[in-house]
Amino acid sequence: MTELISKSDIDKRVGELAAEINRTFGREDVVVICILKGAFIFTADLVRRLDFPLIVEFMELSSYHLAVSTDKVVVTKDIATDLTGKNVLVVEDIVDTGSTLRFIHSHLAAKNPASLRFCVLLDKPAKRKKHTPLPDFTGFVIPDEFVAGYGLDYDQKHRNIPNIVIKET
Ligand code: IMP
Repeated sequence: MTELISKSDIDKRVGELAAEINRTFGREDVVVICILKGAFIFTADLVRRLDFPLIVEFMELSSYHLAVSTDKVVVTKDIATDLTGKNVLVVEDIVDTGSTLRFIHSHLAAKNPASLRFCVLLDKPAKRKKHTPLPDFTGFVIPDEFVAGYGLDYDQKHRNIPNIVIKET
């Protein structure tokens, strides 16, 4: 496995993202929604650097690959909090085709939040579908490689690797 992003580069970038997010939200109350499972480590590191009042919620999704351009995303664990009128920050591990991000966007927009923003650690734009919402905060833009570590899995394994590596498939 080849290293793509070192632990120290991740730490530095998470700090920069947190500073950007702190400037954006000011003193508002925010609901941070961690998308399981891949974003659990990123969310844990990020929220400890956010300095406004927040609560953390967890949402889990599964996606089924049906055909080249039709992925079906389903919610396996939804959030319990009422989002009506709330400021929401979604924390996601990686955007690839964009199907998951598009699904989350429409699923959460239907809950009538005051604002809905996305923070994504990794952006893999090569296979991006049209009409994918742009993340508001992005950690790293990466090439079209399968990556693991720092919460991201390969076949549910390798989430505990502290850096981000390319998983040769
Ligand atoms: P999308 O719907 O095609 O944008 O895919 C997003 C989801 O696929 C992410 O939330 C990840 O769970 C998974 N995924 C996509 N690329 C990778 C990768 O390189 N490593 C680990 N998971 C990935």
